[in-house]
Amino acid sequence: MAETRTRPERRTSEARRRWEGSGEPLLQIRGLAKHFPLQQGIVFKKTVGHVRAVDGVDLTVDRAETVGLVGESGCGKSTVSKLLVALERPTAGEILYKGEDVSQMRGSALKDYRREVQMIFQDPYSSLNPRMTAGDIVAEGWAVHPDVAPRKGRDKRIRDLLDRVGLNADYANRYPHQFSGGQRQRIGIARALAMSPELIVCDEPVSALDVSVQAQVMNLLEDLQTDLGLSYLFIAHDLSVVRHISHRVSVMYLGRIVETGTDADVYGHPSHPYTQALLSSVPVHEPALRGKGDRILLSGDVPSPANPPSGCRFRTRCWKAQDVCAEEDPQLRDRGQGHPSACHFAEDHQVVPTTDDLPG
Ligand SMILES: Nc1ncnc2c1ncn2[C@@H]1O[C@H](COP(=O)(O)OP(=O)(O)OP(=O)(O)O)[C@@H](O)[C@H]1O
Ligand code: SF4
Ligand SMILES: [Mg+2]
Repeated sequence: MAETRTRPERRTSEARRRWEGSGEPLLQIRGLAKHFPLQQGIVFKKTVGHVRAVDGVDLTVDRAETVGLVGESGCGKSTVSKLLVALERPTAGEILYKGEDVSQMRGSALKDYRREVQMIFQDPYSSLNPRMTAGDIVAEGWAVHPDVAPRKGRDKRIRDLLDRVGLNADYANRYPHQFSGGQRQRIGIARALAMSPELIVCDEPVSALDVSVQAQVMNLLEDLQTDLGLSYLFIAHDLSVVRHISHRVSVMYLGRIVETGTDADVYGHPSHPYTQALLSSVPVHEPALRGKGDRILLSGDVPSPANPPSGCRFRTRCWKAQDVCAEEDPQLRDRGQGHPSACHFAEDHQVVPTTDDLPG
């Protein structure tokens, strides 16, 4: 296999030195919030409220770990990813990377962070500059981080990177429109790898691809993790997409995490009504199990993040809601079901049957 990774020497801060011996996760997000102002008026703009896109998210990602972040459209997933790659600044909360608070990083520390934490985007069409060749796209970041790839030997490194993501190295001179959607996503992955990252935030990287190509890209990401020890925050709106790649999964609703646990916890023992509803909509591929799961149809629309419901944010669509749900905001904690869930009445309930449940 071609070697695609060189890690430049980095400065070591006091916080990072402490983190190195601590066994703490690579990334720790605590109470993260992003409220976008809602403005009215054309000449004199007046703030009339805030869109609470992300409203108190806690999340950790360890080295060589994949954490899935799942939720419906508009629940705040992309805002979390933009906060992570420092494209947006948080309204509240903190992001600790290797023990250092990202909001306090300046100069070379922020530059290091921006290199080590890369992003792969949902749309492989619009995320690549149509006027640049695949080789130039892969090499683009080296203009800002020249120490990642010594000038001498860059052509070889571009070829190695294209080869590593399963593209013909001779395609380096082709333009994005000359590739298929799956191949373009591979260029996006090569661009991220070119920075020798530690963590890749994958914001719905396979949602725009057809199912067979989705599987190929997911397999590539898994292989890269095994070979390079990468960590992923893998965002999707469909629980079935993150299932096979994630070690842990967090389910998001209206700016908050409502349930979190291992793959086995969340899929085998979902305890939040929203997770149960999401799981019930996942297609069952095993013919013998079809029709044996629960089908939960959610009524009502997702409320506006500018005016979320009081108490539990899911209560306007929840079939289990009681008076207390409108009054008390349920904390994300383990109420005896074995993993944290933000529901006053959290109860383990298997929604998707497994082959173990078949008779004989
Ligand atoms: N720059 C912005 N200004 C105002 N509101 C914003 C901004 N960016 C996002 N929002 C709002 O924040 C909420 C969350 O958006 P976000 O893009 O994070 O959702 P998402 O979960 O990624 O959705 P999707 O699955 O459709 O990609 C939405 O209501 C969106 O309209
Ligand atoms: S706290 Fe109440 S409204 Fe919220 S999910 Fe649980 S039962 Fe439903
Ligand atoms: Mg999004």
